[in-house]
Amino acid sequence: MSERIIKVVAFAGSTRNDSFNKKLVRIAANLCSDAGLDTTYIDLKFYPLPIYDGDLEEEIVCPENGLKLRQILQSHDGFIISAPEYNSSISGVLKNTIDWCSRPRINEPPLVCFKNKVIALLSASPGQLGGLRGLVTVRSILVNIGSIVIPDQFALSTAHEKFTSDGYLINKSDEQLLQQVINSFVSIIRKLKM
Ligand code: FNR
Repeated sequence: MSERIIKVVAFAGSTRNDSFNKKLVRIAANLCSDAGLDTTYIDLKFYPLPIYDGDLEEEIVCPENGLKLRQILQSHDGFIISAPEYNSSISGVLKNTIDWCSRPRINEPPLVCFKNKVIALLSASPGQLGGLRGLVTVRSILVNIGSIVIPDQFALSTAHEKFTSDGYLINKSDEQLLQQVINSFVSIIRKLKM
C-alpha cells in the first residue's frame, strides 16, 4: 500500500526582511523536507491583511489574501511556525493571520484551518529567552482553536549572533535541538496523518 503524502507549511510570524524567525523556520522546513514530508515555506509579507474588523468582514467577508492563506492552511496537514515574541506575547501579524483564518464561513466546518492540524512551534529573539514566553500564548491560542501543538519546541536565544551570513545556524548544539523538535514533529504527524 502506498504511503499518503503528508503536507506541511512553514512560516514565521514576522514580515521583516531580515527576520530571525524566517531564517529559523526555513532551516526547519528543509529538515522536514529531508525527513520526507512535502514541505512548503511561505512568507506572510506576501499576504498582507488589514487588521481584523467585524465591519469590514460584513462588507467583504474575507480579504483576498485571507482567502489565499485559508486555502493554504486548509490544504496542509501541519504547520511549523516560528513566532517572534512581542512584549512577552504573540506578534500582531501572527495573531491577525490567525484571527482572519479562524472566522466561520458558510459551507465550511468551524475552524477548518486549525482543527487537528499538527503544529511545531519555534521562536527566535535577540533576548536571552529566545522568545520562549511568547510561545506560551501562541500555544494556548492554537490549542484553543483545535490544533495539536506538539510538546517539543525550540527557542533560539541571542538570535542576532546565531546565523551565518547565508542563513545557517552557527552552533551545532542549536542545530541538534532544532533537529530533535523536527524529529518529534515528523514522528507525531506521521502517526496521526498517515
Ligand atoms: C520586541 N522584541 C522582543 N524580544 C523578546 O525577546 N521579548 C519581548 O518581549 C520583545 N518585545 C518586542 C516588542 C516589539 C513591539 C518588538 C518590535 C520587538 C524584540 C524581537 O524579538 C526582535 O525584534 C526580533 O528580531 C523579532 O523577530 P524577527 O522579526 O527577527 O523574526
